[in-house]
Amino acid sequence: MTTAAPTAVRMTVNGKDVNLTLDPRVTLLDALREHLRLTGTKKGCDHGQCGACTVIVNGRRMNSCLSLAVMHEGDEVTTIEGLGTPEDMHPLQAAFVEHDGYQCGYCTPGQICSAKAMLEEIRAGVPSHVSANLDRVEMTDDEIKERMSGNICRCGAYANILAALRSVEAGA
Ligand code: FES
Ligand code: FES
Repeated sequence: MTTAAPTAVRMTVNGKDVNLTLDPRVTLLDALREHLRLTGTKKGCDHGQCGACTVIVNGRRMNSCLSLAVMHEGDEVTTIEGLGTPEDMHPLQAAFVEHDGYQCGYCTPGQICSAKAMLEEIRAGVPSHVSANLDRVEMTDDEIKERMSGNICRCGAYANILAALRSVEAGA
């Protein structure tokens, strides 16, 4: 890759202000992993197809491999490291452990970031393709499956992921 003029970007990552100077073609995913050493966020396909790189930006989930870091000036980014720690897990993390929601765990950070924002979407009444009633969105298995369909699990732990998400739907 030839070089491009470095560009400054300031964002808040997991509650901390960070200042980076990056090639403007660096993705948010690579900025997080390679520049900030936050390797919890995974690179699967690097093409927006697997969801392994999902993070939460200003409250909404996004595939960080599809977004340039310099587009996030002033944004609030939350990665799996910002949700919980091994000593103090987020309820979603605890539920994945309890319900055996992962095998290799490679998809898990993206699944959990996606799930956190997804549960908030349903609570906010944002309809999806499968919503039967656009005025009253219900927390059904079909709603959860549809909304999590962008997060691929190669190990096929889907049934247990669904059980984990259902177990925290009231409190995450
Ligand atoms: S790595 Fe971003 S969607 Fe697969
Ligand atoms: S647990 Fe292995 S990819 Fe999901």
